[in-house]
Amino acid sequence: MIIAVDGPAASGKGTLAAGLARHYGLPCLDTGLLYRAVGHAVEAHEDAPDFEARAIAAAQGLDTGHLDNPELTTARAGSLASKVAVIGPVRRALFAFQRDFALQPGGAVLDGRDIGTVICPEADVKLFIDADSKARMERRARQLEARGVKVDRYALYHQIEERDARDRANPNGGFYPAKDAHLLDTTLLDIEAALRAAVAIVDGAM
Ligand code: C5P
Repeated sequence: MIIAVDGPAASGKGTLAAGLARHYGLPCLDTGLLYRAVGHAVEAHEDAPDFEARAIAAAQGLDTGHLDNPELTTARAGSLASKVAVIGPVRRALFAFQRDFALQPGGAVLDGRDIGTVICPEADVKLFIDADSKARMERRARQLEARGVKVDRYALYHQIEERDARDRANPNGGFYPAKDAHLLDTTLLDIEAALRAAVAIVDGAM
């Protein structure tokens, strides 16, 4: 069983994907970490003329065994990720790893932006998770505060909006709900309720 979980920044898709993976006993891949790792690798060259070339090289040489680096979870890494994510050859370099992960025997859960549209259009179940931008900002703020990070909510809101706009406009992206995706709006749902709703969708689709 392959479950695709897509949606914008801080929509709750990562938490839901992990919950679904636990519920169905499947491995889970947070594909945003791949883009974050590439962005992080070229951080020092953000304004350099060869930024693109460096990002492509970083994507092609990415060590997928080291995605648990806490530095990849920062807002800065998210913003850099969305900058490298518009580069077509970067997306192509990351494609095979994601595709292989999806097709492993027994199935998998993958969360990202283009899982249901590009990486695995044949996924058994596709979920597109959304929530209004204020709710997403508030969730991300609480996550960061729980880690002891001081949060400027106004700046965070604009950071998320800016990243969403760049992602939606990404000509190489595929960031839209697949025709056969189930839409799940989590604005008014806590984690448990959202997971129950997602499990009901997956069970109903099998
Ligand atoms: O999901 P997360 O917020 O970690 O993703 C970081 C960035 O990586 C996104 O804003 C997006 O630009 C990019 N991304 C992507 N395709 C994916 C996953 C993430 O373009 N499948």
